[in-house]
Amino acid sequence: MRAVVYRETGPSSVLQVVEREVPEPGPGEVRVRVVRSGVNPTDWKFRAGMMSGHDEVTPGQDGAGVVDAVGPGAGTHRVGDRVWLVLAQHGRAYGTAAEYTVQPAARVIALPDNADFDLGASIGVPAVTAHRALTAHEEGPTTLGPGTLAGRVVLVAGGAGAVGNAAIQLARWSGATVVTTVSSDEKAVLATGAGAHHVVNYRTGDPADRIRAVAPDGVDIAVEVAPAQNIGLDLDVVRVHGLVSIYANNGGDELRMPLRAAFGKNLRFQFLILYTLADDLVRAATEDVTAAVAAGALRVGEDAGLPLHHFPLEDTAAAHDAVEAGAVGKVLVDLPDA
Ligand SMILES: NC(=O)c1ccc[n+]([C@@H]2O[C@H](COP(=O)([O-])OP(=O)(O)OC[C@H]3O[C@@H](n4cnc5c(N)ncnc54)[C@H](OP(=O)(O)O)[C@@H]3O)[C@@H](O)[C@H]2O)c1
Repeated sequence: MRAVVYRETGPSSVLQVVEREVPEPGPGEVRVRVVRSGVNPTDWKFRAGMMSGHDEVTPGQDGAGVVDAVGPGAGTHRVGDRVWLVLAQHGRAYGTAAEYTVQPAARVIALPDNADFDLGASIGVPAVTAHRALTAHEEGPTTLGPGTLAGRVVLVAGGAGAVGNAAIQLARWSGATVVTTVSSDEKAVLATGAGAHHVVNYRTGDPADRIRAVAPDGVDIAVEVAPAQNIGLDLDVVRVHGLVSIYANNGGDELRMPLRAAFGKNLRFQFLILYTLADDLVRAATEDVTAAVAAGALRVGEDAGLPLHHFPLEDTAAAHDAVEAGAVGKVLVDLPDA
């Protein structure tokens, strides 16, 4: 099979396409013929600086394809099942940028019939992250679905990003009123396509004023990608007993905040990263994300606010570079769907 590997960390030029034996699934494992590999910022960041003790790594946490072999005791998976993958390169060397990948059964999830492989390869990191960000409120819910966020206002920072897009769609599906911030008119169109009820360009005027105009009692949950830049805005617009879910360090790695403003509102701060997220929370997220996909509530493509950018496996380095350069939308690597 063809696989992308790197044997040293560095720029995308460390990625090579090589020939490898097709891997065999062991007990509790499933082999998936990959049709799409999804590229996330974590893939290039990991490639640029981390081998985690492996001699060789195939990048790719996200992907979608078809089960083509099932090891003993690998649950209910069957050869021929269409599936999506979560955390495929977490704690193991070989991820989804290859024609085949062997995964623990729990990381292989049935893809609803209405979903194509583009969608299946786009939901792992972004939608599971968005799910955690939206379900860490002190009164719950720990699950999402129709009505679970009814009556709540969610602020999604950066609604044209991949995680932001998923957060908008999942919050809207769950009944929230969704406000989002973007940096341009083009991104405002995308965020509206994702389903945001209110879109605020944070580069013009005072975004806090405009958010308060649509959420006079404050927002219940802020899903935050750039806390170092946005902490003042979050403290302004999140309501008493509200939640600020922080999942990234875009725009600065150090967070300074006025403590009185934060404890004065009984705010809850939830920091999150998928790699140490408890298994039951990952499972809750994959179940709800699959349900949202089956309901047609989680989509990809330009009209859903997430333009798709396809690269062949040979150009995985260019796909990494596109994500690193801030491509707007979802970057996917295509493998033959034989
Ligand atoms: N903790 C986790 O487990 C986890 C999981 C997934 C992703 N991440 C991290 O989350 C970040 C985003 O990932 P992604 O896949 O969504 O990337 P992406 O598609 O490139 O989106 C990043 C978004 O951040 C927005 N942004 C940057 N500064 C902003 C600001 N000051 N205010 C509002 N929005 C701002 C950008 O929008 P504008 O251009 O409009 O500002 C852009 O849309 C990355 O750093 C990634 O590594 C972490």
